[in-house]
Amino acid sequence: MTRVAIITGASRGIGYATARRFAEAHWHVITCSRTHIPKDDFVTLSGAKHIYADLSDEVSAKAAIAKILDLLPEKRIHALVNNAGASPKTLTGSKLGVFDLDMQSWQKTFQLNFFTPLLFMRGLMEEISACKGSVVNVTSIASRQVHPFAGAAYAATKAALTTLTNYAAAEFGARGVRVNSISPGEIQTSILSEGSENLIAQISLRRLGYPEEVAAAIYFLCSHEASYINGADIPIHGGISA
Ligand SMILES: NC(=O)c1ccc[n+]([C@@H]2O[C@H](COP(=O)([O-])OP(=O)(O)OC[C@H]3O[C@@H](n4cnc5c(N)ncnc54)[C@H](OP(=O)(O)O)[C@@H]3O)[C@@H](O)[C@H]2O)c1
Repeated sequence: MTRVAIITGASRGIGYATARRFAEAHWHVITCSRTHIPKDDFVTLSGAKHIYADLSDEVSAKAAIAKILDLLPEKRIHALVNNAGASPKTLTGSKLGVFDLDMQSWQKTFQLNFFTPLLFMRGLMEEISACKGSVVNVTSIASRQVHPFAGAAYAATKAALTTLTNYAAAEFGARGVRVNSISPGEIQTSILSEGSENLIAQISLRRLGYPEEVAAAIYFLCSHEASYINGADIPIHGGISA
């Protein structure tokens, strides 16, 4: 039986490492973002399909869900990884305060980081339930504590996503669907702000994390090895102290 994983935001960073992890384990991967993984990459060569979509736009996100349903080999989804996300910053890359972002940008940030994961869960839950699949929502340590680089809007979207994860886990567990989240700390991807290396002194492992280390946790949560883990949030931050 082919297992199917839907992974948003897999064109680079954590999402890409996750798509690769699933593809290496012979899952059928469907990715979704504005740009695609190169055609000569292992993930594409393994048969992964890509859907172009701007997930900060509700219409585009709904169209992507319809395309995913069309691409399914059977009406089953074994794993949904809501990973696509963005952290708005100033033009010079510094942090945006509570009033620094206009309302339209607040809404766009919520659309991408919060409403799209909700839309994907709503639109694909029947297919996830059909095979007692699981969902992993990618949140952030910024959802719990004020972060030196993450802005207020970003942190608020991630806190909302953590709460949504708890409610979805409580509701869909009865159908055998597990819903969990992960909260990465400082992982080496393009989302990091300049100066993130300065936080290494507060990380007990004394280094930034690699996307592959986050991908391994996501894969574990979607595997049978995690069959009794539901409604959990796994921090992946190398032991950070505030
Ligand atoms: N790296 C960290 O330290 C860290 C820490 C905490 C949480 N996170 C979370 O981890 C997730 C992955 O981030 P990352 O670190 O891997 O960052 P990244 O390298 O910037 O990757 C972000 C991914 O999201 C996609 N994306 C962004 N805006 C999109 C849009 N409007 N529509 C569709 N896709 C969009 C991007 O694809 P396209 O640009 O091709 O559309 C890309 O594939 C995010 O949810 C982020 O908040 C990361």
